[in-house]
Amino acid sequence: MRIGIVAEPTGENRVAATPVTVAKIRTLGYEVVIEPGAGAASSFPDGAYADAGATLVAGPEAWASDVVLKVAAPTAEEVARLNPGATLIGLLSPALSPDLLARLAARGVTAVALDAVPRISRAQSMDVLSSMANIAGYRAVVEAAHEFGRFFTGQVTAAGKVPPAKVLVAGAGVAGLAAIGAASSLGAIVRATDPRPEVGDQVRSIGGEYLPVDVTVEQSTDGYAKATSEAYDRRAAEIYSEQARDVDIIITTAQIPGRTAPRLITASDVASMRPGSVIVDMAAAQGGNVEGSVPGERVVTGNGVTILGYADLPGRLPTQASQLYGTNLVNLLTLLTPGQDGELTIDFDDVVQRAVTVTRDGAVTWPPPPVQVSAAPAPAPQAADAAGVPAGHPEAPPPKKTMSPARRAGLIALGLAALFALCVVSPPPLPQHFLVLALSVVVGFYVIGRVTHALHTPLMSVTNAISGIIIVGAMGSWSPPAWSCRSSPRWPCWSPASTCSAASP
Ligand code: NAI
Repeated sequence: MRIGIVAEPTGENRVAATPVTVAKIRTLGYEVVIEPGAGAASSFPDGAYADAGATLVAGPEAWASDVVLKVAAPTAEEVARLNPGATLIGLLSPALSPDLLARLAARGVTAVALDAVPRISRAQSMDVLSSMANIAGYRAVVEAAHEFGRFFTGQVTAAGKVPPAKVLVAGAGVAGLAAIGAASSLGAIVRATDPRPEVGDQVRSIGGEYLPVDVTVEQSTDGYAKATSEAYDRRAAEIYSEQARDVDIIITTAQIPGRTAPRLITASDVASMRPGSVIVDMAAAQGGNVEGSVPGERVVTGNGVTILGYADLPGRLPTQASQLYGTNLVNLLTLLTPGQDGELTIDFDDVVQRAVTVTRDGAVTWPPPPVQVSAAPAPAPQAADAAGVPAGHPEAPPPKKTMSPARRAGLIALGLAALFALCVVSPPPLPQHFLVLALSVVVGFYVIGRVTHALHTPLMSVTNAISGIIIVGAMGSWSPPAWSCRSSPRWPCWSPASTCSAASP
């Protein structure tokens, strides 16, 4: 099959494929053609595409390909340029574009919406919304820093002391976490809110302070927030009012799927901020989290607060955004090309392929059946046996015997005695290494075993835990510098005799 990469309209700086991803698409067996200048706004020249194996063809020929790759949703004229039976892959916002879906179905086009990839672990490598939100969160901080008249980090200089900037991030999803990470790495004091308490640890792990709203919220079962209660909103509003008076920068990213963005920051909150403060309302295009924000615009209020409602934040880092978008797209194409033979097939029994296919065979296939993803801690298991007989029932099997505390203590003592004996008879530095290994196993068991998977990043949660254990292991196996052998009498009991040898001063 032939894959065509078409030029995007003015205002969309991203491109659906980069020279690197073109080479990967070709390994799947496809022929690749590209419209000249398609990658120019992302700094990818035509020559680089040609070197990667793409053929430069005129626009109509690229649109007439079997599979057309795009970023922005096509206009009515562009839909008419697609061949009946072709497949279009791009950001189609299916929930908001019923007319576009009807037009694509009428044209006989199979439409694949990359922005409909379900947020489940298996589909993470294709989750273009997360890739773009990550870039947007970072860029929101860059835009805020550009508008803000001071450093983010605190400094003590010959000319005086500079306090660090204070940043509030409302909503700690993908974009919010990226914003927290970027702002705290610039040295700001960062605080964050989110109705899902499980994000508290994630916020703290990247340098932010989580501000809990002490009102119980309905537990999320799919990693996304539920609509918040009136009591929650009332308490949250108090927090936002307190914070607005204190912070310099507010970045809002709150969203609940399928609804307009919740209003978090009121006009009176904005009026209470200091002149020179900056607000970035990332949800401006979805209804706005901030009163007074205008989608796509920069607004300066009467009291000198700048409110940015930019809706094209990923496109403001076009090279990066195109690279991640193109990689997500290649991962999707890999899923849709099981034979790696240049033939695209869509399997409706696969939950990811079903979710992204929004028109097929002249029919609109949106919305797909719901995909259940769970980021909530697993519910406590029911006290029932495999056959479903509850505990205590006359037919229930006898309960499993658990180890008595005395027996458990005896076994632990035996294990410790064996460990001690091994350390005594082993030559140095074996006991030290052995001790570190034993500690790592114990710490690893508890740390990894207790990681709670949050949102759609279970893999990252576990790898973070493993990295933590490696650091603990590295600390455990650290040997004191030679000079400390003489100056500190405490080290020899930890470091083996060989470390503090005669070579030491
Ligand atoms: P997400 O679904 O990963 O995160 C949204 C977060 O908002 C969730 O953590 C949720 O718990 C939280 N939230 C919901 N209700 C809240 C409330 N009342 N108060 C505080 N937090 C609340 O979404 P993602 O991908 O991080 O996107 C965030 C927003 O940024 C969306 O509105 C999205 O459309 C927008 N966006 C804007 C871009 C731009 O160029 N301006 C680019 C990419 C995304």
